[in-house]
Amino acid sequence: MDASVDRQEEIQPSLSVRQALEEVRLRCVACQTLYPVLEPGRAARYRCDCGEVLDVEIPLHLPASLAFQAGAALQTHDEAAAWRRLFAERAALVPGAPGAAVSRRSGVWRYRELILPIPEEAVISRAEGNTTLYAVGSDQQQETLASPGLQRIGDYAGLAQLYLKHEGENPTGSFKDRGMVVGVTMARLMGARAVACASTGNTSASLASYAALAGLQALVFLPAGQVAGGKLSQTLAYGAHMVQINGDFDAAMQLVEQVCDELGIYLLNSLNPFRVEGQKAIAFELLQQLDWQAPDWLVLPAGNLGNTSALGKAFRQARDLGLISRLPRLAAIQAAGANPFYRSYREGFARRHAVQAQTVASAIKIGNPVSYARARLVIEECAGLVEEVSDPEILEAKAVIDRAGIGCEPASAATLAGIRKLVRAGIIKPNERVVAILTGNLLKDHQTGVPRAETVIIDPDLASVRRTLDALGPLTSSSSG
Ligand code: F0G
Repeated sequence: MDASVDRQEEIQPSLSVRQALEEVRLRCVACQTLYPVLEPGRAARYRCDCGEVLDVEIPLHLPASLAFQAGAALQTHDEAAAWRRLFAERAALVPGAPGAAVSRRSGVWRYRELILPIPEEAVISRAEGNTTLYAVGSDQQQETLASPGLQRIGDYAGLAQLYLKHEGENPTGSFKDRGMVVGVTMARLMGARAVACASTGNTSASLASYAALAGLQALVFLPAGQVAGGKLSQTLAYGAHMVQINGDFDAAMQLVEQVCDELGIYLLNSLNPFRVEGQKAIAFELLQQLDWQAPDWLVLPAGNLGNTSALGKAFRQARDLGLISRLPRLAAIQAAGANPFYRSYREGFARRHAVQAQTVASAIKIGNPVSYARARLVIEECAGLVEEVSDPEILEAKAVIDRAGIGCEPASAATLAGIRKLVRAGIIKPNERVVAILTGNLLKDHQTGVPRAETVIIDPDLASVRRTLDALGPLTSSSSG
């Protein structure tokens, strides 16, 4: 990237884009001030004039053709049925079939009327989403016997009905792709030429991939020495310009906001409200997979709090549209060494905390979360809670998920550790239906909490194998006994 990155305050979106974005407003989560997306003389806005973060507001309406079919005087249940049909038809599109353009197979753009109502031609996509919802509860596995290995997870959690939504199955291996595809689509619509973020590694990998896809330059700020190897490699391989800073994620976050303002680069942290909109698709997709029966609890790891905000908002919208009849309770789980949100929660959100973060779960090593105000609102609205878990608890839960054959990165395992703790405390009841989000793929961090590979090299003969196996301990086999 040229040192004098082109300033972009002269961004001029096309007329059709202007029309599409006219219905969209940005609302301050604190003082409720409304802003248009396109402000004359201003490239992009990420904060209210009062300093707080913004929330995207769009009128949610069915495509005109479906509204007509659903009847002249639309009842909420007719409208909800029409939405469900629309999403079911789109979900049924098979890869490679005529009409199944990548964007049509996307588990984000499937819900585009609820996310960003722009013409289909304007979106970019890697067919993100469509991730597996694993049923791992002890009852569920006894019923199906499909994957006995999974039952260990349900037993460990102490739950009969537990689902794991594995967002590590996204194109770049984390849930970040859901928000990033919308953020980068917006960047392109706004005429940006470069995009930037601060990151603990997953956002940067996702940004680098989608920016490359969209033909944009990418600039990422990472805390030096604190990002897992898989994420660094991805970010570089996709061609991003990487700047490692002598400081933590929170310092990188402050810096990138200044850099973007100063150089007119489009900011793609979850401070950007369109990223949050895309992440809502996790909730819509899991509800669709559960046939629109809301679970009792939704449990997720919490760092910068963008995802907590997004899921809470999505559930509220799904309830308002009649897609579900009640809100699941959110449980946001933080690492005990990176727990500012937990501290505020314990004090009834009397004040906002910032901490010097320290945890093995580097993805959520965040001490001053940007989306605090948004996330607080959603926790209060759904009678949710915030819990903390120690590093040993995270690593123990990760080993359980890994050994079941699914695997995840450390931050994701905070969910299972949190569920176990909440079940043991009697807060989540053993018969309640719980969905946990696994946010990142095992390969993202191939060192933390992973057994070291044995470096025993043997001669290629049976006797040597026998000797080695004897040393390793007995192998049990169900057929030979
Ligand atoms: N899990 C993983 C694997 C993450 O990468 C992150 C955040 C979170 C959970 C927390 O989500 O920030 O929305 O509360 N990673 C960001 C990044 C900060 O830069 O990749 P959150």
